[in-house]
Amino acid sequence: MSDSTNIGMSPAAYLGQLIGNTGFIHAILLAAKLGLADLLKNGPVSIADLAEATGTHAGSLYRMLRALASRGIFSEDADGRFSLTALADPLRSDAPDSIHNWALFVGSEAELQTWAHLSYSIRTGKPAFEHIFGKGWFNYLDEQPEMAHIFNNLMTNGSSSDAAAIIEAHDFSAYRKIVDIGGGHGALLAHILEQNPQFSGVLFDAPSVIAGAAGAIDTYVNQGRAEKVAGDFFEAVPNGGDAYVLKYIAHDWDDERAIMILKNCRQAMAENGRVLLVEVVIPAGNAPSSGKFLDLEMLLYFYSRERTEAEYRDLLQRAGLELIRITPTASQFSIIEAVAA
Ligand SMILES: C[S@@+](CC[C@H](N)C(=O)[O-])C[C@H]1O[C@@H](n2cnc3c(N)ncnc32)[C@H](O)[C@@H]1O
Repeated sequence: MSDSTNIGMSPAAYLGQLIGNTGFIHAILLAAKLGLADLLKNGPVSIADLAEATGTHAGSLYRMLRALASRGIFSEDADGRFSLTALADPLRSDAPDSIHNWALFVGSEAELQTWAHLSYSIRTGKPAFEHIFGKGWFNYLDEQPEMAHIFNNLMTNGSSSDAAAIIEAHDFSAYRKIVDIGGGHGALLAHILEQNPQFSGVLFDAPSVIAGAAGAIDTYVNQGRAEKVAGDFFEAVPNGGDAYVLKYIAHDWDDERAIMILKNCRQAMAENGRVLLVEVVIPAGNAPSSGKFLDLEMLLYFYSRERTEAEYRDLLQRAGLELIRITPTASQFSIIEAVAA
């Protein structure tokens, strides 16, 4: 039996601890949903006031907070009031390192139900999400503004925290026009524009998402350096870019659909243009990778997968592109660079 994991306890104790965390995790997710950390940001609050503000049953809320406080998330004082702790602070919606949106997403009905149906996807190879909700994820978001808000904010949080690592890893200085395909609300593009005053940018996404794109990107729109374009990347993408950034796009789609998007980029790009896929590349063998669990999320939600280097090379080649370099970044993402074949 081989075991390269140094877990510092017996395998049974380790697994038992992981399995036993289910209740702990549900309590964290509900604390985020109830906005408890925000309610405590100005100091200790009594359980009666917390229950009133959240529309919950005081005695039960107390039991949940007591359990969380036993693991360092919130703390109870001698007067029975609760306050924030270092571990509770990132649950605030306005914390600098906030994981509030991430917790809202993981604790959403959609995500909880979908993971509960993992066995469906493992048995059939089909997305549990579509099986439960009767539609694809992006169509669902079009009809669920609250969930779309959480998802788009989650993408914005992720892109904002990963932007520095992505910009650091790739030399953007030669480009004049960069197009962010499926760029969400424009967080990554805004960071790239901020670091590279010599070029302009186009934010491209579905109409419902572009309609909500505001904030940092608008600074550059107002300066005439950025444009927001709504459309469908299976039909066409904006013309004339030197670089087409696709972060977390190819991984949402099966090969056939991903190739359609890549072909549209290939066709639209300027001479000597580049395609920059920003994705988590799956390492070989047993190597640890966040991508290997993200890949399960792809199995549950889409007809798609996280891909290995060889799979990206093949995908790009089938779209008339040649993979020329993969650059790891300080984040989980790598930049997969391709030119016309
Ligand atoms: C996983 S998100 C990635 C967002 C952003 N690139 C990031 O990493 O933060 C995928 C994006 O693709 C967009 N998208 C999905 N289908 C699309 C379509 N047919 N045309 C254009 N954009 C689409 C979604 O609206 C969403 O913003």
